[in-house]
Amino acid sequence: LLQVHAFPSSKMIYAALLCLIPFLLLISYRRRKPNTVGFFHPYCNAGGGGERVLWCAIRSMQARFPKLKYIVFSGDRDASKEQILLRAKQRFNIEIDPSNVDFVFLRLRSLVETRLPFTLLLQTLAGGVLSVEALCYLCPSLMIDSMGYPLSLPIFKWLGGSDVAAYVHYPTISCDMIDVVARRESSFNNKGIIARWPLLSQIKLAYYKAFAKAYGLAGRAADVVMVNGSWTASHIRQLWQQECSVVFPPCDIEGLLAIPGRAEEVLKNDKRVNILSIGQIRPEKNHKLQLEILKEVLEGLRNRNIDVKVDVTLTIAGGCRNEDDESRVKELKELAEKLGLQKNLEWKLNVPYGELIELLNSSLISLHTMHNEHFGISVVEALAAGTIMVAHKSGGPAMDIVVPCEGEASVGYLASTREEFVSSILSIISLSPSSRSQIRESARLSSQRFSEGVFEEKWNEAIGGLIESTA
Ligand SMILES: *[C@@H]1O[C@H](CO)[C@@H](O)[C@H](O)[C@H]1NC(C)=O
Ligand SMILES: *[C@@H]1O[C@H](CO)[C@@H](O)[C@H](O)[C@H]1NC(C)=O
Repeated sequence: LLQVHAFPSSKMIYAALLCLIPFLLLISYRRRKPNTVGFFHPYCNAGGGGERVLWCAIRSMQARFPKLKYIVFSGDRDASKEQILLRAKQRFNIEIDPSNVDFVFLRLRSLVETRLPFTLLLQTLAGGVLSVEALCYLCPSLMIDSMGYPLSLPIFKWLGGSDVAAYVHYPTISCDMIDVVARRESSFNNKGIIARWPLLSQIKLAYYKAFAKAYGLAGRAADVVMVNGSWTASHIRQLWQQECSVVFPPCDIEGLLAIPGRAEEVLKNDKRVNILSIGQIRPEKNHKLQLEILKEVLEGLRNRNIDVKVDVTLTIAGGCRNEDDESRVKELKELAEKLGLQKNLEWKLNVPYGELIELLNSSLISLHTMHNEHFGISVVEALAAGTIMVAHKSGGPAMDIVVPCEGEASVGYLASTREEFVSSILSIISLSPSSRSQIRESARLSSQRFSEGVFEEKWNEAIGGLIESTA
């Protein structure tokens, strides 16, 4: 009954009609449209990382399977096909051939924006209603859910008779979320009151577990599952009990691979080592730790009895978006002064891209201190640009990025404690130039796992098996 008041009445009528439609569909069992690939992506005009994947995927498939027809199920009724494709070009520099792409516009997208209690469940159900709407307009021979609406998988598969595939960025429910409730901890998705009351906790736990079961059942409908990284892969394998291929989201690294790098010159001629830290000035990035590391690196170099003195500069570059960020910068500057680091520290906030490239060009080492970063696109970029990475040993950097490809040498350093960060940096400085250049080469090579080219190959490889059956 809660829902009834929340939606305007015209939407309710649609919803009621849509409840009938599955039965009608079952009776008529519409024939699926041959040689058609549908992408279920209701927010295709949004311009985030998920949309980058969508357009890259369509472009990749157009190149390999030019005869197929591509349909995007979108809820962006305020934009035309031309506008959406233009935005993809401007935002991501991805050119889509318009001749075999079309859009089907959905009316019920606002349903998935619900903010009612049991959001998880209601949003998932609303995604199901939206899928049924999509299916009424058109039933493709292959449907790909690229946005994470799990019910779209069984709906297209069992009601429409399509083959279905999923690209998962993030599991709707994760095993971690269930653990948090089970341990009765309080966190963002587990409000304090629920953590305190055992009975509420148990109800919530039962709800999550039931949801996870249902999520698993929906996921099992998929014929092909792709995930965006190892973390997601481990959760999806557990929840869906399905094999899945890791297809990393594409990063634009072509330009970075071409940076020649002059850090060795700077070290040889000016006796200076530049360390670069790129990232927004947010607390989780842990810039404070970077300052402490700098201080100990300087001490370490001083205590070392070598005749050539080397000076170290840490440059903190990154977005500083609001007052909170600015006040954090102020605090960090005060801390730097207290530690006596002003001479060795530079700030490059909100600098244009060209300047960032120049910083990468002249830096020997890149520093990344965030704990449990999901992915860390800046870490990939630092590798591609030929700096030697020292990254936190957790999350995406540890699982996916700063790991050697088969048979490759080291591509960078991982550290968990301040001491490990400091000793990694000191050992990079004392390596021979040829050892450093070996690391740089391996790093650049391994960063190509995240290129658009590799994405295209992996995507088509994963989806290729289903294409034969689309005819
Ligand atoms: C996968 O997608 C999620 C959600 O957008 C993101 O947080 C995560 O960093 C991505 N992982 C990889 C490996 O790109
Ligand atoms: C990088 O440094 C080299 C050597 O000094 C210079 O020739 C080149 O223009 C620089 N490249 C970029 C992209 O800044």
